[in-house]
Amino acid sequence: MTAKPRVFSGIKPSGDPHLGNYLGAIRNWVNDQDRYDNFFCVVDQHAITVAYDPVNLRANLRQLAALLVACGIDPDRSCLFVQSHVAEHTELAWLLTCTTPMGWLERMTQFKDKSVGGQRERVSAGLFTYPTLMAADILLYDTLVVPVGEDQKQHVELARDLAARFNHLYGDVFTVPEPVIREVGARVMGLDDPTKKMSKSDEGANRTIGLLDTPKAIQKKFARAVTDSEGHIVFDDNRPGVTNLLTIHQTLSGLTKAELEARFAGRGYGDLKKELGELVAEALTPIQQRYIELTEDPRTLDQILADGAARAQAVAAQTMSRVRQAMGLR
Ligand code: TYM
Repeated sequence: MTAKPRVFSGIKPSGDPHLGNYLGAIRNWVNDQDRYDNFFCVVDQHAITVAYDPVNLRANLRQLAALLVACGIDPDRSCLFVQSHVAEHTELAWLLTCTTPMGWLERMTQFKDKSVGGQRERVSAGLFTYPTLMAADILLYDTLVVPVGEDQKQHVELARDLAARFNHLYGDVFTVPEPVIREVGARVMGLDDPTKKMSKSDEGANRTIGLLDTPKAIQKKFARAVTDSEGHIVFDDNRPGVTNLLTIHQTLSGLTKAELEARFAGRGYGDLKKELGELVAEALTPIQQRYIELTEDPRTLDQILADGAARAQAVAAQTMSRVRQAMGLR
């Protein structure tokens, strides 16, 4: 039997995980668990690159880890762990920082977006080197496949370029990874402004559907979702509001674009929004139930994360000894 290809992906414990995280990433991790040898990581060290509250960080981390299990990440088939529990991540991040040209980091659009204007003087150096920590996450595990949403593509490509550069400079140490981005759901947009992606950090009250939102809150947010005044319901890149709603429907219903357009022909936005609210609530309710069960039993989660860290550390330690050897350290 040939070994399954290794998957690695990560998610930050900053704020409530949302429907974009679920449709763009988590759901695909869950559905593909049998195809791959899986490593999934709650990346707390990425969350501290911006201002944060330590008490909230700890609570968010536990909430996110429990939600990942509730979404279907199965600890028997996937290694689920916390980044800071495996010290090799920060060690490799430093070594990679020393092999990363500044220009490569300066080109990262996420850093450019978060450091516009006077912000550059104030944001942390960690925000700038964030992609080298992310590359370390990926490269420590001989990862081939990195399933992410569209917004992380550039970072994964940097990890790929860094692996190739490192191998060229120091010998063949790293597996060169590839981003895998789904066609549908890779960029879920904000409900209040469909030109901006759905995101944890934006405060817009109606931007984001949280994975723990009640059915009532979900219905209300969809009812208020910004569309346009054209009325008919079709996919159209020039009409981001209605296209976003249809895309969310598509990810959950599995219908094709043509089937969805036919389904809503002659119907109004109100119908689409109502149906979508029901579809999303139906998908999230069982997740929320499992989440509550898990929070009532904190020791199970502790055990899952301790086992995950031990498994991850065993792989990471082997990679690090190859890296140190190649770089002339120790
Ligand atoms: P994070 O925590 O912002 O997001 C986690 C995953 O959710 C995806 N995502 C979205 N997908 C569709 N529509 C959206 N609106 C949306 N918002 C977020 C993200 O693309 C991501 O796949 N830097 C990463 C975490 C990370 C990582 C890694 C990922 C750290 N190390 C190594 C992969 C491999 C991040 O901040 O994701």
